[in-house]
Amino acid sequence: MIRPAQMADIDPMLTLQSEAFADKFTAAFGRHGAARGLAALVRTHHLQGPASLQGMHVALAQKRIVGTITMRTVEMRIDDGGLVEQAFMRELGTWGTIRAMRAFSQLEHYIGRDEGYITDVAVVPDLRRQGIALTMMRYIMQLAREMGKGRLGLYVSASNTKAIALYYTLGFREQLVRRSWWNAVFLRERRWMYMTYPIL
Ligand SMILES: CC(C)(COP(=O)(O)OP(=O)(O)OC[C@H]1O[C@@H](n2cnc3c(N)ncnc32)[C@H](O)[C@@H]1OP(=O)(O)O)[C@@H](O)C(=O)NCCC(=O)NCCS
Repeated sequence: MIRPAQMADIDPMLTLQSEAFADKFTAAFGRHGAARGLAALVRTHHLQGPASLQGMHVALAQKRIVGTITMRTVEMRIDDGGLVEQAFMRELGTWGTIRAMRAFSQLEHYIGRDEGYITDVAVVPDLRRQGIALTMMRYIMQLAREMGKGRLGLYVSASNTKAIALYYTLGFREQLVRRSWWNAVFLRERRWMYMTYPIL
């Protein structure tokens, strides 16, 4: 079952993502900072409330959260009024906040009017290769169609062959590659591919 995320999902959802994206968490928050980074993200969601969950979905199996996926659209942009910075400063201190904000800004993407922008695709390790990611992606593709969007877009690190194979299977194709040494410093991967899928 796939459904929009709720406030009670925040802890298990972010824990799942911190494990699935452990290398990115380490890059953004430092070798010993991943736990504090997770706490900062949890705090951010609690400060912002339900608005922060716009576009986020979870996959459930026997009431357990086994997958996450987010689709953001231009209509969902919210002004956080500085709450993210406040939460980060409290958990990470000044330098930790600067580092994390810099890391997050590396893949900043301006979502097009006709675009559904996908992030946070992750599945728990013990249930991988059973079609959960495919099911979540197809759910989101249908949602985007119903919302009248013309395309889907996402970034994937060029070395993430599993995820690239997943997106290829669904009909996504590479549009451009962003190459930056800052990506290597802040995200542990120099090359990131922007892939799109046209909704017919
Ligand atoms: C990538 C990820 C989301 C795939 O989830 P999953 O539920 O295991 O994927 P599925 O079972 O739906 O697999 C669908 C297709 O993706 C590809 N794929 C998935 N895992 C793969 C692997 N380990 N090796 C090769 N191809 C793989 C295959 O084409 C697969 O189809 P097949 O099983 O019929 O060959 C999961 O491995 C994950 O959470 N990884 C860590 C987080 C991450 O990298 N997310 C992507 C961010 S862009």
